[in-house]
Order: sequence, then C-alpha cells, then structure tokens
Amino acid sequence: MKKIEFNTTFSEYNSTEELTQDDKELVQRAREAANVAYAPYSNFHVGAAILLENGEVVIGSNQENAAYPSGLCAERVAIFSASTQFPGVAVKTLAITAKSGNFIIDAPIPPCGSCRQVLSEYEHMYKKPIRIILSGETGKVLIIDKVEDILPLSFKSGDLKK
Ligand code: THU
Repeated sequence: MKKIEFNTTFSEYNSTEELTQDDKELVQRAREAANVAYAPYSNFHVGAAILLENGEVVIGSNQENAAYPSGLCAERVAIFSASTQFPGVAVKTLAITAKSGNFIIDAPIPPCGSCRQVLSEYEHMYKKPIRIILSGETGKVLIIDKVEDILPLSFKSGDLKK
C-alpha cells in the first residue's frame, strides 16, 4: 500500500482590478452572460465566458426549467456551445461569475461537480490546460491553472480501454 497525495495551488487576487486586461475582458463577458441568465427559480444568475485558442469567445448562462433537473449550468451551456460552434478548437480560459437577485455575491463562484467532469473531458481531449477564473460580483478572484486541479481522479472512459 502507498499513499498518494494531490496538491492544488490557486492564485488569489484581491479584486478583478489586479487581473490582466485580457482576463478582465473575459470576466466582463461572463458578467454580461450572467445578466441574460434564465434563472427565475433560484434567482442565482451564473455567467461563463470561454476564450478559445482561435481567439473566439463563447458565452453561456444558466438556463432553468420548471422541471428543475432539466435546467443546465452556465459552464456547460458555454462549453457545449463552444464545442458545437468551433469543433476541434481547444479551450484556453474559462471565466465564471454569478449575481443573485437576493444578495451581493462577494466571493468567487466555483463550478459544480458535474461541470468539472464535463470541463475535464475537454481538457483531456485537447491535452491543453483550461485556466479557470472565478469571481463573484465583488471581492476576491481565484485563478486555477487547470481543471485537473479541481477534479483529481476524474472519470475518463478512454482510460478503461488501455
Ligand atoms: N449553477 C451554474 O450555472 N453553475 C454551477 O456551477 C453551479 C450552479 C446554476 C444552476 C442553477 O440554475 C443555479 O445556479 C442555482 O443552483
């Protein structure tokens, strides 16, 4: 028996003001996406903006439904759309943000487990790290270097065939 350890490092910024111009612009696109979320049930409006390797930006917002589980998170709306519009183009950076109709979100918003699994598939497929920028409406910002850092031991069906 041996113990295996995972180590994760995030970068923390005091606010979006500390980000590079490119990252600030991507966060801004995510904020615009959050503004058009369809979230009448949770009142939690999530926005995602994906910068692709070809320079294109694809956005997504959460889309809820009266049949609750039929809705989809912003991150998956964005990455499924990116893969549909630009198949074969790797993802460089994903910015995620959220705003609520009920309170100010003053902390970075991390992606849910299902979104991590989906993101991980594209990172694995393109063999390129996907950077993730997490922000709320205000407050600190986290940058994660790659999806694997927030989903170690992800399920990859391809690995089973080896
Ligand atoms: N949501 C996202 O869009 N992304 C996540 O990673 C977590 C949650 C959405 C789903 C639902 O519409 C609302 O936020 C409240 O859970």
